[in-house]
Amino acid sequence: MEELIVTGGKPLSGSVAVHGAKNSVLPILAATLLTGSVSVLHNCPALSDVTASLVILEHLGCRVTREGDCITVDAAAVTGTEIPHRLMREMRSSVIFLGAVLARCGEAEISLPGGCELGPRPIDLHLKALTAMGCEIREEGGTLRCSGPLRGAEINLSIPSVGATENIMLAATAAEGVTVITNAAREPEIEDLQRFLRAIGAEVSGAGSSTVVIHGKKPLHGGEHTIIADRIVAATYLSACAAAGGQVQVLGVQRRQLLPVLDTFREAGCLVRSWADGAELTCRGPLHSVRPVRTSPYPGFPTDAQPVVLAALCKGGGTAVFVETIFENRFRYVGELLRMGADVRVEGRVAVVCGVKRLCGAQLEAPDLRGGAALVVAALGADGESHITGLAHIDRGYAGLEADLTALGGCGHPKKTERLRENEGERGRGDRENPKASEQAKKRRQPERPVSGHLGGADSGRDSGRLHCVL
Ligand code: EPZ
Repeated sequence: MEELIVTGGKPLSGSVAVHGAKNSVLPILAATLLTGSVSVLHNCPALSDVTASLVILEHLGCRVTREGDCITVDAAAVTGTEIPHRLMREMRSSVIFLGAVLARCGEAEISLPGGCELGPRPIDLHLKALTAMGCEIREEGGTLRCSGPLRGAEINLSIPSVGATENIMLAATAAEGVTVITNAAREPEIEDLQRFLRAIGAEVSGAGSSTVVIHGKKPLHGGEHTIIADRIVAATYLSACAAAGGQVQVLGVQRRQLLPVLDTFREAGCLVRSWADGAELTCRGPLHSVRPVRTSPYPGFPTDAQPVVLAALCKGGGTAVFVETIFENRFRYVGELLRMGADVRVEGRVAVVCGVKRLCGAQLEAPDLRGGAALVVAALGADGESHITGLAHIDRGYAGLEADLTALGGCGHPKKTERLRENEGERGRGDRENPKASEQAKKRRQPERPVSGHLGGADSGRDSGRLHCVL
């Protein structure tokens, strides 16, 4: 089993060029099915969820190539309309392929996506919308068989669901007439999807607002697109700095996408600077209390940043209350924080955090993607070593995390981090490590701005936060 060992307790310092957004590249990969041509996507992160999407595209008949962070999809010969359970279960968000396959082929067969670590993940809004667009949906033994010509419709979402908004946008490109989505999700990833759809000839407008309008049946063609940076990964690095202390810059991510997270850390006593496409957080002392943090759809406080920000606030002299309004089971990682000496009480969807003077490294198990990231954040601020397992969760959303964090906490000779499988005798590269991820991390580390701050600083005097993996 792979294990990440984090030795915390020293301020971080440096800058990170944030990799492409998981929640943007996934729907856009599905959207490449819409054209019978070639699409080229840049700044694609080396994530296991991306790999799972490429496997689905190949299963459907597409030819896929990946060169570094560039993915090329040739969707000329889509030969299938069925996505088997074994592929669906690899990635919970694979339901996003439903709209794209329906649009391209007029029919689709997928197995119902299971729940996930965050609780049940219903798709009733997706299905209700597609039905309103004329799609016939039959469920047989956990498999959904969908068919029928699609027509434009007025669709009001009872919840501004990200996935449902995206599925409707994809399906509507092939619908006869105009589709209007009201109470649509406003996330930046929806805007990025609109940019790609426009690049391949679709007529889509309003993304980023609550009303998205799609004029169907436009002739589509291949296109080229650069994926936006991942705002949650950026929030993770800023949280790591708030936990460990020091000064960290995140580059390439839009400031407006980070505002709720920046405001919380500013209130906690961090020095925060930001500019159009980046931000810097400096933390030189214990964190203070903050007003209650309530997650909500964009532009509110992102649910995906809740775990990493909560983890950072576990240390310090303040208190914080987190109200999780999006998912019912998003505090599973708190039990692991308690093993480090954190003082967090969870009641349903509310977590009350009382900052403690110090956290201690421990043996930790990542319960899900962002919960795993929260454990890394807490470990960087803890004294001693933490051993973190369940890395497959973290690999779904973070490319080159170890390399980036080592560079931020490296003590002048950043140690090359490797993950080793259990019983692997000599030091070697775990076969799960994606060489491209390390390459990407190296490449991304060329800061576009001079790195401000310096390692450690007079007030630190403790060993560097360093990552290495041994078993
Ligand atoms: C997307 O999930 C993201 N995933 C999630 O990121 C993110 O947390 C979430 O949006 C909210 O921002 C991707 O984009 C791949 P929703 P999605 O539909 O689309 C309920 C991460 O860590 N709902 O906006 O599945 C649902 O149960 C992941 O990167 C219905 O009831 O989220 C949830 O309570 C985690 N019926 C709420 O809406 C439906 O048909 C929001 O879900 C659909 C959703």
